[in-house]
Amino acid sequence: MSYLNVKRANPLKKTKVLAVINQKGGVGKSTTVVNLSAVLGESKKKVLIIDLDPQGNTTSGYGIEKESLEHDVYDALLDNYPIEDLVMETCEPRVFAVPATIQLAGAEIELVSVDGREGTLKKRIARILEHFDYVLIDCPPSLGLLTLNALVAADELLIPIQCEFYALEGVTKLLESMRMVKGRLNPELEIFGVLLTMYDSRTTLSKQVAEEVRKYFGKKVFKTIIPRNVKLSEAPSHGIPVTQYARMSKGAQTYMKLAKEVIRRG
Ligand SMILES: Nc1ncnc2c1ncn2[C@@H]1O[C@H](COP(=O)(O)OP(=O)(O)OP(=O)(O)O)[C@@H](O)[C@H]1O
Ligand SMILES: [Mg+2]
Repeated sequence: MSYLNVKRANPLKKTKVLAVINQKGGVGKSTTVVNLSAVLGESKKKVLIIDLDPQGNTTSGYGIEKESLEHDVYDALLDNYPIEDLVMETCEPRVFAVPATIQLAGAEIELVSVDGREGTLKKRIARILEHFDYVLIDCPPSLGLLTLNALVAADELLIPIQCEFYALEGVTKLLESMRMVKGRLNPELEIFGVLLTMYDSRTTLSKQVAEEVRKYFGKKVFKTIIPRNVKLSEAPSHGIPVTQYARMSKGAQTYMKLAKEVIRRG
């Protein structure tokens, strides 16, 4: 079904564009984009996910076969391919996706010579934003040009932090990038929320990290904490969100709670 035939929950409200971002690898960005979008969709919100990571984990997490794609977000960014023609349906009725393939890896370098390179994504998505309640951008684990494009296109940031050693490592650098973009290109940019992920209640380390992150970010930290849960790591290999794979699992239930908190925050 075309995204044009699906109604928004609240057509009068401004679309919320969230970049799910942390240049540290493997902290749960893609897992959060896939599963949060799915539960927002279940809550009648119309969601667009944009995969901005050449690894394409959000794309495959939704069961989209990358090999079969003729075009991806790269073509929109660098060839001005119409973004509306890239929007695909997913197995979630109200969730749509702009996919990524390994082709996108070239964008990091090729964008360098593009005029207004940091603002390319923002420009490209401008004309489809109004069709969605939420847009979630999955960022790659770096602070390169793709991530910079996400920082310019986003209204707010959702920062997943893994409850592990060195959790806050690199966060200062991320906040520096945020301040730089705020100062020059996107003055309204804010932190939407900080999400603790892969929490293991049996370890004191998890508790310590959670405490440390709360000290640093205060109220920005979501009350909902994503536990380490095997169903969350299994679901992507089936190409479905955890709510479809193992609805009663702790992982699915917690992402449902997170969606409620996200909706409450606006
Ligand atoms: N709460 C969780 N419990 C168990 N496994 C998880 C959880 N969250 C993520 N994982 C697994 O951990 C790995 C990293 O997660 P994910 O791909 O979401 O991180 P990422 O930040 O997107 O990584 P990258 O920086 O490489 O894009 C994946 O194999 C994923 O399935
Ligand atoms: Mg990822």
